[in-house]
Amino acid sequence: SASDKGAYEFYMLKEIDEQPAVMHKLQAEYFDEAGNVQIDEKLLAEMTAADRLYIVAAGTSYHAGLVGKELFEKITRIPTEVHVASEFAYNPPLLAPKPFFIFLTQSGETADSREVLKQVNKWGYPSLTITNVPNSTLSREASHTLLLYAGPEIAVASTKAYTAQIAVEAILTKALAEYQELETAASFDVKSELTKVANAMQTAVDQKHQVEKLAADYLATTRNAFYIGRAIDYDVAIEAALKLKEVSYVQTEGFASGELKHGTIALIEEGTPVIAIITNKATAAHTRSNVQEVIARGANVITIVAGELAQPGDQIVLEDVHPLLTPLVSIVPAQLLAYYTSKNRGYDVDKPRNLAKSVTVE
Ligand code: G6P
Repeated sequence: SASDKGAYEFYMLKEIDEQPAVMHKLQAEYFDEAGNVQIDEKLLAEMTAADRLYIVAAGTSYHAGLVGKELFEKITRIPTEVHVASEFAYNPPLLAPKPFFIFLTQSGETADSREVLKQVNKWGYPSLTITNVPNSTLSREASHTLLLYAGPEIAVASTKAYTAQIAVEAILTKALAEYQELETAASFDVKSELTKVANAMQTAVDQKHQVEKLAADYLATTRNAFYIGRAIDYDVAIEAALKLKEVSYVQTEGFASGELKHGTIALIEEGTPVIAIITNKATAAHTRSNVQEVIARGANVITIVAGELAQPGDQIVLEDVHPLLTPLVSIVPAQLLAYYTSKNRGYDVDKPRNLAKSVTVE
């Protein structure tokens, strides 16, 4: 069955490997045979009437929301804020006159997110839940639901739900752009871009033995590590850091690489692992110079780089995809680095200490 580990020692690796298939599944679920995107027009009308989107989520889903902001703002031109649910619940921001709420939640049961949705329903604002679980609490209580179709995610550390969330956000921006007859509707061909993404993900998972070696060489005994990036690569750096810390207990920070020099670079010493994500063209040269700065202070650097930006010496080179979809591919080696670091240290990768798959208390 879909929730059978089969030959895998841990679900986490199985779920990392499933990501290309999830991209194909989303193409099949959200596009008709002619290639047209299929999303309920009532949802599109309500989102079009909004002057601001509020994405609310926890954990990895919050990180998928950060990439969602890039998509919603760049493709549909709707100003978008992303909020941690447990913060929003007790300290809501000043809202725009016509807000629309998007809840990202793999399980559909996270209490912190539900608390915000209850408030939103009291206020009477429209909402959408993007979830992997049909009929989950947040699905039932929101005005609309879009499903992730990722299949059951068993490992506590979320992998395929993160990439499915980003893909569904991309599909939704495409539908909105078409509905609003924006120029981006034609240029953002999400269906065929997701084919490229699935292929690039497959190439990335096929490199798992190289990543396993990097994990052994750079991360086997370290107490701390850093992921750095700028723009969309910073969004991924934060998720990549969460993956590594939650399954391997390596204290890892995801950092905006330009901000390092304003304090955090003080922590870089001989042998500190720094993993740089470089897929964003506009900021690649700047991140490269931050890489030189940490190397000068003794850091051991791993680079995860988009093909078109690759240079000799880069350790992980990804196939190129649409610039707003690079997180779908650049996260894969980071998931694998986390997996192998945890496994090599002898931990139960699927059940990290102190963590639960779904947190139903505030
Ligand atoms: C827990 C899990 C995380 C997950 C977060 C949000 O903390 O351990 O992996 O990202 O909840 O869960 P949700 O189901 O709302 O996406």
